[in-house]
Amino acid sequence: MIKMIYDGDPGIDDALAILLATKSEVLDLEAVTTVAGNVNLEKATKNALRILELAGRLDIPVAAGMPSPLVRELQSAEYVHGEDGLGGTYLPLPVTQDKCIGAIDLIIAKIMKTTGEITLVACGPLTNLAEVYGKQPEIGENVREIIIMGGAISVPGNITPHAEFNVHTDPESAKIIFQSDLPVTLVPLDVTLKTLLTNDNIEEIREAGTPVTDFAHRVLKYSLNFSGHKKLGGCPIHDPLAVGVAIDKGFVKTKKLYVNVVTDNIVTLGKTLASENNTGQFEDCKSKLNVCLDVDARRFVRFFIDTIISK
Ligand code: RIB
Ligand code: CA
Repeated sequence: MIKMIYDGDPGIDDALAILLATKSEVLDLEAVTTVAGNVNLEKATKNALRILELAGRLDIPVAAGMPSPLVRELQSAEYVHGEDGLGGTYLPLPVTQDKCIGAIDLIIAKIMKTTGEITLVACGPLTNLAEVYGKQPEIGENVREIIIMGGAISVPGNITPHAEFNVHTDPESAKIIFQSDLPVTLVPLDVTLKTLLTNDNIEEIREAGTPVTDFAHRVLKYSLNFSGHKKLGGCPIHDPLAVGVAIDKGFVKTKKLYVNVVTDNIVTLGKTLASENNTGQFEDCKSKLNVCLDVDARRFVRFFIDTIISK
């Protein structure tokens, strides 16, 4: 089993990613930590609890992290994810768990007490991760791997023509992580925009008729109605693919590249730049990232559906 921590901003696709992780036969979801992004921190944390209760896994601790980006104001995305962050499903709010330590201390504690065992999957703005790295830079020696959903290398952004939402929301934190020596695998829009769920896929999920698939169907129908997704012809499952990469690297093809982030230009703010050489604007990059540049989308979409509908 692979021990995993999920850090995100649920959010519709985060919710599907967490459900995938709880249903995976190879992942042991140790904790869910939340960060402000798609919705504010309070909503993201309530939604993490709602999703784990739906999955029957309130044994998994939920810890709240940073309430706002490192230096900028939060620009949330209720227009994509709904006022509640979960497509207006307003799942019943579970009994809250015992008071848990904060996300930063929980991530540090879990990673530092083991060596090479914990995979951290980060699918929101990288504010929590930057805080963890600032407080305990040695996590790079103890963590097994850090898989990050974010960025856009050779494709346009989804929040501006240049930038992807997670990186654009907190570009300063993203820069810290991408320039670090942490063992990062990056799952950018270049691959996640190829993993689309069509209306037929969503109907197949609905036909399974379980509480999880009823929820997945509702949030996916909501997401499919978002104009940006209508244009794509399907619902991109960004965050589930990052969890998929933790399960099976064979879903993707990667290339080692230096990655940097634009933080000083209002037009291209949050743009992710990649290079094979650490010269010029990459000279401060300590190591290359494993950047996913291609995906077996058909095989991953089939895997996602089969896992979500499994009893
Ligand atoms: O750009 C897509 C990413 O931004 C996903 O993680 C989505 O949940 C939002 O956080
Ligand atoms: Ca997310």
